[in-house]
Amino acid sequence: PKKLRICEAVSSSDMGTNVKVQGWVRSVRHQKQNLFLHVNDGSSLQSLQVVASSQLNHRLLTFGSAVEVSGLLVKSPSRRQEVELQANQIHVVGECNPVDFPFKVKERHDLEYIRQFPHLRCRTNTFSSLLRIRSEATTAIQLYFRDKGYVQVHTPVITSNDCEGAGELFQVEQEEDGGQPFFSVPAYLVVSGQLHLEVIAGAFPGVFSFGPTFRAENSQSRRHLAEFFMVEAEISFTQSLEDLMKVMEEMFRSTTEHLLAQCPEDVALFHKHVTPGHNVRTQSISTKYQHQNTMITYTEAIDILNRSSQKFAFETDWGCDLQTEHEKYLVKHCGNIPLFVTDYPYTLKPFYARDNLDKPLHTVAAVDLLVPGVGELCGGTLREERLDLLKTRLALAGLDETYRWYLDLRRFGSVPHGGFGMGFERYLQCVLGVDNIRDVIPFPRYSHSCLL
Ligand code: 4AD
Ligand code: MG
Repeated sequence: PKKLRICEAVSSSDMGTNVKVQGWVRSVRHQKQNLFLHVNDGSSLQSLQVVASSQLNHRLLTFGSAVEVSGLLVKSPSRRQEVELQANQIHVVGECNPVDFPFKVKERHDLEYIRQFPHLRCRTNTFSSLLRIRSEATTAIQLYFRDKGYVQVHTPVITSNDCEGAGELFQVEQEEDGGQPFFSVPAYLVVSGQLHLEVIAGAFPGVFSFGPTFRAENSQSRRHLAEFFMVEAEISFTQSLEDLMKVMEEMFRSTTEHLLAQCPEDVALFHKHVTPGHNVRTQSISTKYQHQNTMITYTEAIDILNRSSQKFAFETDWGCDLQTEHEKYLVKHCGNIPLFVTDYPYTLKPFYARDNLDKPLHTVAAVDLLVPGVGELCGGTLREERLDLLKTRLALAGLDETYRWYLDLRRFGSVPHGGFGMGFERYLQCVLGVDNIRDVIPFPRYSHSCLL
């Protein structure tokens, strides 16, 4: 028999042929004459209905067991599916004791429940959908950048710098060898690949990276992880924040449209069961960054917050960092669609952010993209390319020795440039309407939790 994946088997193009499928049993139903199984193999949300004679020894055919089934693909008499498999042989490859298995047949377990079983949750429909969506979104992002002519760069995981200067670093422990640590300098897990991308952007029009980044943030929040995936882009020869906003918006839209086209059933499952009523079409694709309501300065944002009747837990004076509660309020206030906030105070952004010398308040050319339900999704800046200003900034931060090579980038063929980073898990949270970031990554790491 011809071996098929279940997504192929259910497509009915092999009707009338003898086939073999492999997968995991999602339901078992007994009738007088027949036994009905639904088998899923993760190739899509759909399961294949398998019909077998109830004479069959079915004691081991339980929910969650792994099976290999051979038989004839036929048109199904039921209206619920096009095809079904008339089994002539069923082999239980791996048994599954339904009493001990944490997931129960016909029960819709919520994300919080299945999160307790990180080693088994990919056996549920919801998490299986999530994993397909993650995979497709990864492809979509790479396609977007490839089509625009960007070069993908593999930035390192181990680094000797703290790009964001926030001190939230995981230090790499090094064996002393003759009194010398392995690398001869302290080394850390990377918090952002930006500085490495800036190096490469010194010879390309546009570059991007997509990889894991690490932050020792002691946070239990619904939108922070200690290890998360970041998409970062760096664009040469640009002096405008609008260029960055355009890329953020286009990347968001094309990725989301790709998902809706390639895995509509998986996305619909989230919108139906996880966040009923969540609709990414109206909420997130219709962004127009040119639209006046979707672009405000930090100073305007502070004004809006100060005029609001809502009481905030954190201060809203000019110069304060925007907290999640502020971001959520601002997004709501501006129509509950994605919102760009620009020109943050000089003191709030890292040393590399470009000084807005021409503006009255001391700000930098930075832009964050805030989205409904999540808050900050992207953060970007124009980079300070003026050597003297950068030197002063590094000296103030006590970093001038460490970043000699960074200054070199401004000495040799320097061009105005800028870029941004998008938290991949936050993107998925936004598009799927998932409340907790731990439910959109296969193996979440956060303070006090590093399972598996
Ligand atoms: O705003 P951030 O810190 O910006 C940077 O790291 C820049 N160097 C990026 C660049 O310009 N190339 O991080 C970028 C994005 C945030 O907007 C947020 O979506 C996400 O990364 N992020 C996190 N996601 C999950 N857990 C965390 N702890 C995160 N910290 C940041
Ligand atoms: Mg940020």
